[in-house]
Amino acid sequence: MKISDIAVLQQFCTMCDDGVSLGWHERNAGNLSCRLTEDELGQFVPFIKSRPQEWVNIGVCEESLAGEFIMITGSGKYLKNVSCSPQDNVCIVEINKSGDAYRIIWGLEKGGRPTSEFPTHFIGHSVIKKKSGGAHRIIYHAHTPYTVALGHILPLDTNAFSKFLWLSECECCAVFPDGVGVLEWLLPGGTEIARASGRLLEGHEAVFWAFHGMLVSGTDFDYTFGLCHMIEKASQVAVTALSAAPNMKMRRKMTEENLTELAESLNVRLNQDVLKFQFTEEPFCFF
Ligand code: 13P
Ligand code: ZN
Repeated sequence: MKISDIAVLQQFCTMCDDGVSLGWHERNAGNLSCRLTEDELGQFVPFIKSRPQEWVNIGVCEESLAGEFIMITGSGKYLKNVSCSPQDNVCIVEINKSGDAYRIIWGLEKGGRPTSEFPTHFIGHSVIKKKSGGAHRIIYHAHTPYTVALGHILPLDTNAFSKFLWLSECECCAVFPDGVGVLEWLLPGGTEIARASGRLLEGHEAVFWAFHGMLVSGTDFDYTFGLCHMIEKASQVAVTALSAAPNMKMRRKMTEENLTELAESLNVRLNQDVLKFQFTEEPFCFF
């Protein structure tokens, strides 16, 4: 078996390529991680480094991740290069028994360390593992241009942002019925953005980072990418419509009744705070 035959690595590479093809990963922008199952890890055994590397302190502690193995992109690595040489741009890290340090057991063969957003991925995995009973295993960060653009004009508020997106494109409310958690600008790559994102991931599968991009979570690669794609597409529709509308006033919108009807038809429970939110600020009061 070659490393390129391992299904989880193939899916990891495909997701990086998909994000690149949509323009979300300029330069080294964005990062991806997957908490591996025992079966997935087992497939890497023939390729694991013979000499274990040093343990590195993560800066945050998550006991629930003790002994886990996480596949994650490297810091400063370009996601466009992942699929042609995953061994140089991605690594698998083992988490120690106290849940506060990692060591690389595979990958980053030309050197490097996991993404600078590792604390966010790490806390994120702990939160989604607990809340999903272990089913959710993917964390993804992308520089999504239309969502970032919306962050320049919408109130930076979870309910306002989520309601605006729900009203922008049919089925958004069914794909992210909890809404999108919104964070004001925070320094990328630190423990502050990691902790704040972790708190929002407790109640939402997606978090928006103002002036920066999206952080999304999910069960598998398709689910997680699809969530990010839906949010970015709705943002694109909204920005395009706002740009075309005289004085940014749109002619028509979906209604609360449309949202409720859609959610009922798909048996989805909508976040009531988002549903009840009303825009009072110009020019969004039309919403
Ligand atoms: P890394 O290259 O360290 O993954 O950083 C990219 C990024 O998008 C930081 O937010
Ligand atoms: Zn980023």
